[in-house]
Amino acid sequence: MKIKKIAVLTSGGDSPGMNTALRAVVRTCAYNNIDCVGVSRGFQGLINDDIKTLKTRSVRGIINRGGTMLYSARSDEFRTKEGRRKAFENVKKHNIEGIVVIGGDGSFTGGMIFQKEFDIPVIGIPGTIDNDLFGTTHTLGYDTALNTVMEAIDKIRDTAISHDRLFFVEVMGRDAGHIALNSGVAIGAQEILIPEQNNGIEQLIDSLKESKKNGKTSSIVVVAEGDRTGENVFDLAKNVEKEFPKYEIRVSVLGHMQRGGSPTCFDRVLGTKMGVRAVESLMEGISGKMIGIDNGKIMLTSLKKAIKGETRIDPELIRVSKIMNI
Ligand code: F6P
Repeated sequence: MKIKKIAVLTSGGDSPGMNTALRAVVRTCAYNNIDCVGVSRGFQGLINDDIKTLKTRSVRGIINRGGTMLYSARSDEFRTKEGRRKAFENVKKHNIEGIVVIGGDGSFTGGMIFQKEFDIPVIGIPGTIDNDLFGTTHTLGYDTALNTVMEAIDKIRDTAISHDRLFFVEVMGRDAGHIALNSGVAIGAQEILIPEQNNGIEQLIDSLKESKKNGKTSSIVVVAEGDRTGENVFDLAKNVEKEFPKYEIRVSVLGHMQRGGSPTCFDRVLGTKMGVRAVESLMEGISGKMIGIDNGKIMLTSLKKAIKGETRIDPELIRVSKIMNI
């Protein structure tokens, strides 16, 4: 039987490209004569019955906008059975037959439980800058975040060079080092500290000493927020300072600027492809899957595997970064 009505929501941390994917979901529904509703503020909107019809023109002018037009939230109430029951009452009230969840691992966990409890089809689109989901080489927003980080550190480099300074730059990524590793290679970092690989502070100090010996007058160390070489990036910088009393050291935490901004071309194309495939999957009766991409090809992975599967850091990137910091 043909699916008649789909709901779409954005949940968890916003990421550039969420609007692009939303637009694609709404327009693919319209193309296939399926009604589409948007749920505000993630799962909390399902509980609060904050649900509105979305038509083709409702999503005009958003393909290039960061953030999410539907707003986002992390809902504590949805973690309770009672909360989810309320949400399902509204799903029934609106005759919703399938849900597209655009978000990260927390959102997929919520979607998976909801699907199992109430037998409602759920499809996930991986919207997070962290790139920490299995079953896709790129999550939506990751490429934009990388470019934002690269541009920001390029600017910091101007000061580092002008003042012969050593900068520690902390980037986001939660428990994953993808943003740090890729942006670190792109900006020519002296060292890149990631949670997946702990070489200790001694190795960092040796590398900085070696680079000084080789005539380097300024350096940038990119530190993933999940890295634990120090208590935090400030503590790390303080400990390194003890070894280099004459080196001027500064810390820069990039913070939420990494999550905003207009999505790159890559993320716009990715969001569009993923949005189309999400609706088509629901039309085919598929449920409990995340839409991913590998080598330009759209692929489907179970939500469970997407959350639990190990996302591996690219060893080749570690290797080339070591060659570059000679
Ligand atoms: O998951 C995206 C992310 O930006 C992480 O990189 C970061 O650790 C976290 O969200 C920050 O969350 P909040 O916006 O709640 O401070």
